[in-house]
Amino acid sequence: MKIAIVGLGYVGTVTGACLAETGHYVIGVDINKDKVNTINRGKSPIIEKGLDRVVLSTVKNKHFLAVNSIREAVLKTDVAMICIGTPSMKSGCINLEYLKRAVAEIGEILKEKKRFYTLVIRSTIMPGTTEDTLIPLLEQASGGKVDKDFGVCVNPEFMREGDSLEDFYKPAKVIIGFRTKKEYALLRKLYSFLKANMIATDIKTAEFSKYLDNVFHGLKACFANEIGVIAGRIGIDAKKAMEILCQDAISNISSRYLKPGFAFGGSCLPKDIRAVLYRTKTENLTVPLIGSILKSNDMNIKRVFRRIIKTKKKKIGILGLSFKPGTDDLRESQIVKLAELLIKRGCKVKIYDKNISIAKIIGSNKAYMQRKITRIQSLLCSSLDDVIKTSEIVIVGHDTKYFQDSLKKANNGQMLIDLAQ
Ligand SMILES: NC(=O)c1ccc[n+]([C@@H]2O[C@H](COP(=O)([O-])OP(=O)(O)OC[C@H]3O[C@@H](n4cnc5c(N)ncnc54)[C@H](O)[C@@H]3O)[C@@H](O)[C@H]2O)c1
Repeated sequence: MKIAIVGLGYVGTVTGACLAETGHYVIGVDINKDKVNTINRGKSPIIEKGLDRVVLSTVKNKHFLAVNSIREAVLKTDVAMICIGTPSMKSGCINLEYLKRAVAEIGEILKEKKRFYTLVIRSTIMPGTTEDTLIPLLEQASGGKVDKDFGVCVNPEFMREGDSLEDFYKPAKVIIGFRTKKEYALLRKLYSFLKANMIATDIKTAEFSKYLDNVFHGLKACFANEIGVIAGRIGIDAKKAMEILCQDAISNISSRYLKPGFAFGGSCLPKDIRAVLYRTKTENLTVPLIGSILKSNDMNIKRVFRRIIKTKKKKIGILGLSFKPGTDDLRESQIVKLAELLIKRGCKVKIYDKNISIAKIIGSNKAYMQRKITRIQSLLCSSLDDVIKTSEIVIVGHDTKYFQDSLKKANNGQMLIDLAQ
C-alpha cells in the first residue's frame, strides 16, 4: 500500500520505517527539515533500539522517503497515518493546534484527490475529538463528506519508547476504531503481516482506549510503589511480595474487579484496607492512592443515592441486601449503606433477599443489622413480587436469574436501577 506518515517524531518514524520494512511504500512528512533530511540520509531522527538499521535499509530500497510537503505526500498515497504530537498545556488539556492544522491542510488537498482517501489517526486524542473536531474540519476544508468522499478511523499507538520496534511487530493488541467496514478492511490489510489481537470498536472507544491503558499503567505503578513504601517500613521485601501478588492470575492479574459497576462491600475488603491505612498512619507513611480507595468506593454509593433522590420518588424496592449473592453476610454491605441513606432521607424502602430473614439473622450479622437499620423487621418482605409491584424504583443489588426473570413480569413503569450489571 502507499502510505503517508504525517509527523516524523517517535510514533511516526517507527510506524513509517516498520511499515516500509514489511513491504509498504511509505512517504513520511514533517515540517521539520532536519528530520526529513536525516531520514533521507538513511538515519533515524530519534534514538530507538534497531531503528537506524530499519531506516537505512528501507530508504535504500526506496520503500521509505521523507518530504516536507504534505501535499506531495497525500497526492502520492491512498492512506495517511496521522502521528502529530498532542502535547499537554498548562491546564492539562491537550494542544490540538498542530493536529488541526495538519488535518485542515489534508482537507484542502483532498479537493485535488480523484480517489477515495483514508485518514488514520494515530495521535492520542480525547474521546470525541475525531468526530466533533477533525471530521468537521476535513469536511469544511475539502467540501466533501466523510464516508462518501474520504474515510476516517482511529488506530492508537501503544508502543513503549526504547522497545518500540518490538512493540510494533508483536503488539499486545491493535485497536481499530471505525465508522464503516471499508476502513476496518483497509487496516486489516495494512497490518496483514501481524499476528495480533485485532480489536474492532467505535471511534470514541478507540480514542479512549489509549488513555485508559495509560491511566491504568500509572495506577499500577503507583500502587506498586506505595506497597514498596509500606513493605519497606515493616521489613518486608516488596519485590517478593509483589511477585507473589502477580502469580495469582485468577483474582489479581485478571479481569476480576475490573468491571465498572457498583461499590464493593463485604466483611473483608473494607476492613482490611482500613487496617492497612491505620498501620500506615501509625508508621507516619503517606500513601495517597491506597488512602483514597474507600473514599472512592463511598462515592459510588452516594452517586446512586443522589440519582434516586433527584427523581423525587419515595417508594424504593431493593432486591438483594447482602454484599453479594449467595450469602447472608450483611457486614459492610454496600447495599445496606445505600438503604440506610435512603431511609434517612424519608424513603419508603422494601427489601427482598431470600437468604436473609429477620428470624435467620444471628450473631454478628444481627448486631450489625440492628446497628445499621433498626427498622429492618418492617423493611424485609417475603414476597419478591410485592416488592417489585409496590415500588416506584426497583434497585437490583444482586445479579441473579431469579431477579431478572421476575423483573420481566413486572410492568408498572417502575424505574430500574441495576447495580449488579
Ligand atoms: N512517544 C510515544 O511513545 C507515544 C506512544 C503512543 C502514542 N503517542 C502519541 O502519538 C502522538 C505523536 O507522539 P510523538 O511522541 O511521536 O510526537 P513528536 O513530538 O515526537 O512528533 C510529532 C511530529 O509531528 C511533526 N509535526 C507537527 N506539525 C506537523 C505538520 N503540520 N505536518 C507534519 N508534521 C508535523 C513535528 O515536527 C514532530 O516531528 C502524540 O499524540 C502522542 O501522545 C506517543
